[in-house]
Amino acid sequence: MSTIAHKRHALSLLVATALLAPSLPASAVDADAAQVLARQSGCFKCHAVDRKKDGPAWRDVAAKYAGDAGAEAKLIHHITSGEKAKFDDGHEEEHKIVKSNDAAQIKNLIDWILSLPGGAKP
Ligand code: HEC
Repeated sequence: MSTIAHKRHALSLLVATALLAPSLPASAVDADAAQVLARQSGCFKCHAVDRKKDGPAWRDVAAKYAGDAGAEAKLIHHITSGEKAKFDDGHEEEHKIVKSNDAAQIKNLIDWILSLPGGAKP
């Protein structure tokens, strides 16, 4: 593939992403702030970006919800409500609640997770 074709491809991907998610411009996500909040909230005890721990890899979460317009609201609820989370061994417990009352910070964390590229799942 020529460099120019490659660039065009990358550009059209960007455009496609912008069209699919008009409410989530990638530039609006503050990845550093998202990771600070995740660290402060203890999320990385059970999650990592790239690999499954007790909870799913966040890249896989992004892949699972790709194109799902309701994903942001659903995941904000997931990390603020204490809804039940199912673990691999079958037990259920209330999912960890994010340590912030700032709606913009919580939205930023979810938008960051949903913006992660790839997905380890086939
Ligand atoms: C004690 C372990 C644990 C901690 C801590 C934890 N999680 Fe989870 N998380 C899980 C498990 C287990 C699941 C899978 C739940 C299910 O499928 O029912 C999950 C699922 C998720 C999902 C995907 C939900 C879906 O609908 O697919 C997201 C996003 C998530 N967690 C974000 C977070 C964030 C953000 C934090 C920190 C505030 C956090 N988690 C802290 C265990 C944890």
